[in-house]
Amino acid sequence: MNFELKTLDLAAAARLKTDVLIVLVSAAFKPSRGSLAELILRARQSADLDATPAKLLSVWRPEGVSAERVLLVSTGDGHARQVRQAVTAAVASLKSVAPKSLAICLEDASQQRLHAITQAVADTSYVYTATKPTAKASVLKRVVLGLPTAEQTKAAKSDFDHACAQAAGVGLAKEWGNRPANHATPSMLAKVAQTLAKKPRVRCEVLGPAQIIKLGMGSFAAVAQGSREPMRFIVLHYNGAAKTEAPTVLVGKGITFDTGGISIKPAAAMDEMKFDMCGAASVLGTFEALAQLQPAINVVGLIPTCENMPGGLALKPGDVVTSMSGQTIEVLNTDAEGRLILCDALTYAKRFKPRAVIDIATLTGACVVSLGHVRSGLFSASDELAHALEAAGEAALDPCWRLPLDDEYAEGLKSNFADVANVGGRDGGAITAAKFLQRFAKDYPWAHLDIAGSAWKSGAAKGATGRPVGLLLHYLLGTVPARQAKTAAVQTQTANRRRAPTRLA
Ligand code: BES
Ligand code: MN
Ligand code: ZN
Repeated sequence: MNFELKTLDLAAAARLKTDVLIVLVSAAFKPSRGSLAELILRARQSADLDATPAKLLSVWRPEGVSAERVLLVSTGDGHARQVRQAVTAAVASLKSVAPKSLAICLEDASQQRLHAITQAVADTSYVYTATKPTAKASVLKRVVLGLPTAEQTKAAKSDFDHACAQAAGVGLAKEWGNRPANHATPSMLAKVAQTLAKKPRVRCEVLGPAQIIKLGMGSFAAVAQGSREPMRFIVLHYNGAAKTEAPTVLVGKGITFDTGGISIKPAAAMDEMKFDMCGAASVLGTFEALAQLQPAINVVGLIPTCENMPGGLALKPGDVVTSMSGQTIEVLNTDAEGRLILCDALTYAKRFKPRAVIDIATLTGACVVSLGHVRSGLFSASDELAHALEAAGEAALDPCWRLPLDDEYAEGLKSNFADVANVGGRDGGAITAAKFLQRFAKDYPWAHLDIAGSAWKSGAAKGATGRPVGLLLHYLLGTVPARQAKTAAVQTQTANRRRAPTRLA
């Protein structure tokens, strides 16, 4: 799908050749002249288009309008969340129409609104087809976003580019999140990374079992040992700045299927554990977006990926493994495997002398109990990093919520047989998991995002959400130094966000 940004007042919109014209109408709509404006005014005056957000009025071939079909949609007070709701309702209502082209007119843009619109169009028109050949793929090819004046269009350009890159990144994360475990093995995820590495400024290395063991990643390797699928350690680099510029490192949990291992999970909804690589998918999606935007920053992506299976070779409760950090770990529960693969990746991250490390993981059911499916869990001992991530989440409509890291929460992780146990008690499970990770992330500013509740939806709408690509991309673009944002834009002729990091911090 291709998004285009255009100057389009209502008169120009009426002349535009497109299958469907969607006009977003806020409560503050000011009528102008012309057939389209009059149509909106009359609809507003009747009860057919009151100001309730997402209220729809579909008009077929109205006079004086070139589009086949016009959809008037109320956006309430015009806030981004209501705009998202309105666009979602409008695009969803077009399922049977299956338009090839779409134009969306808005009264004025804000960064949040542009994000809301592109994300809503991409999400609502997404169709999963990889293992469902009978599904009708979306035929939507062209989506025009129209702003009333040339000045507005010009001012919105870099936010628009960001929004398009985010939609592409979220799309990739959703697609790989959704693929079943036999169609998204560790080797297949490594191939996705290698394909990303064909893009400018992206490089990729893939390590196999022998190299991972040689590095001393005994904790990661222990999780993988019960499966026939060989583990992979994926290292992605995005280099948009000088080599001397410290990178941000993203670490994504890539358990392609989590049975729980010998501490096996109950059967109900176990299929959803194919989504246990959504952290990894969010790192891949973020790299897709970075490659598209080419910002002047350095980013490293680390993905430890394997299956967590029971079997004759599998890790057993009580086994003690040695992590790459040298710390020994007593594995009291083989289902707490995410932290076992992440801890070695966090140790590996040290070599990049990172400015910050953020891990992203579908880590605990306890996080779902705490925060439900609305906000991701955020943990960080650094107020600066935490505040920047919180702000990025709000701006991208991909919110998170900070949880505490008091040392008392680590009490339960004490072990008589190793330096640390991999589980504490049941209480505060999301926090004890974060406390475990923190032991391996002492050498740099670190944050942990628990996306167990936000990475996918269950029930009839079962599917990956592509979160938190929006949050991550927003955060990363906020780390572009203002001075370098300019140079990179000139060098690459690509519009970057010309923003100082302080905007987000
Ligand atoms: N991948 C799961 C976490 C999970 C469970 C995410 C359900 C979303 C829904 C993780 O590997 C896991 O099994 N965690 C255990 C930890 C426990 C054994 C301490 C959990 O949350 O039950
Ligand atoms: Mn598990
Ligand atoms: Zn897991």
